[in-house]
Amino acid sequence: MATPKLPSSEITPESTYVDRRKFLVAAGIIGAGLAGASPRSLEGALPFLPGQQGQAPQARGTPYGLQPNDTPTPWADVTGYNNFYEFGTGKDDPARNATNFRTRPWTVKVDGLCEKPGDYGLEDFLRPSAVEDRIYRMRCVEAWSMVIPWRGIPLKDVIDRAQPRASARFVEFTTLMDPRQMPGQRLPILEWPYTEGLRLDEARHPLTLLATGVYGRDLPNQNGAPLRLVVPWKYGFKGVKSIVRIRFVERMPTSAWMAAAPSEYGFYANVNPEVDHPRWSQATERRIGEFRRRPTLPFNGYADQVASLYSGMDLRRNY
Ligand code: MTE
Repeated sequence: MATPKLPSSEITPESTYVDRRKFLVAAGIIGAGLAGASPRSLEGALPFLPGQQGQAPQARGTPYGLQPNDTPTPWADVTGYNNFYEFGTGKDDPARNATNFRTRPWTVKVDGLCEKPGDYGLEDFLRPSAVEDRIYRMRCVEAWSMVIPWRGIPLKDVIDRAQPRASARFVEFTTLMDPRQMPGQRLPILEWPYTEGLRLDEARHPLTLLATGVYGRDLPNQNGAPLRLVVPWKYGFKGVKSIVRIRFVERMPTSAWMAAAPSEYGFYANVNPEVDHPRWSQATERRIGEFRRRPTLPFNGYADQVASLYSGMDLRRNY
């Protein structure tokens, strides 16, 4: 991943930002001392009206793991400052180049070591009653971060229906391979198709989402339509987009980034301010839309919920 460029949002005047205080009050964070609260403890606290956003949709949903100074990143940045190398390596390439990407019909193959493999259409795959709106902190390995109102279903839902066998220890995710639609796949930028992996217990964690939307709307193509992974305690590159296959495997999968640069991108990819990227520090981050850098939090602020998944592991070696 290239070093980040200065996004246009960083020169937007303060007056056009969302009203932070209104958000914090609505989310029940101010006065309630809920920073780092456990999942669900803020349930039902929104909707929040961002105001001053022109045509931008409302950020709505349950805030998970937000800190007192977190507010949703403006829609324009969430949907205009993206990494999706299938559509170009510049941050504004995906929004421009993915406009005509076809995401219907869409089939997701669930296979590998499970009792109930199958090819699912999006409609069979997503139980509408399971769809939730959740606001998560997100951090990229490039040391910028956002707060994103996602819509999706817990990945655990899909896993439970597939009934993985006892021998399944990892889950591998694969992006669509279609060089006609994805111009980046015609170039040897990464090993295509893009793949990612999680340990089965990480995949089953209640915070892990299969996202279908942002800001209460279906995912824009540049954000990984129609279905992408969201793991809020890991660097953004774990969030594989436009998924067509979910496979249960025994051995640790090699992700596209591990294959591209194994000394820079590991399987675990937990946000860890103490382990620098070989070419830059991970101690601080720039929240898109802000000037001053913030300290980066262990597990991106979700340590209370997820640190136990890694107890006993050397997180410097397992980066
Ligand atoms: N998925 C695919 N298929 N291709 C990609 O290039 N980039 C990753 C991840 N998922 C990527 C991908 C990286 S590096 C990041 S930071 C996030 O997507 C960005 O997600 P966003 O654009 O929705 O913020």
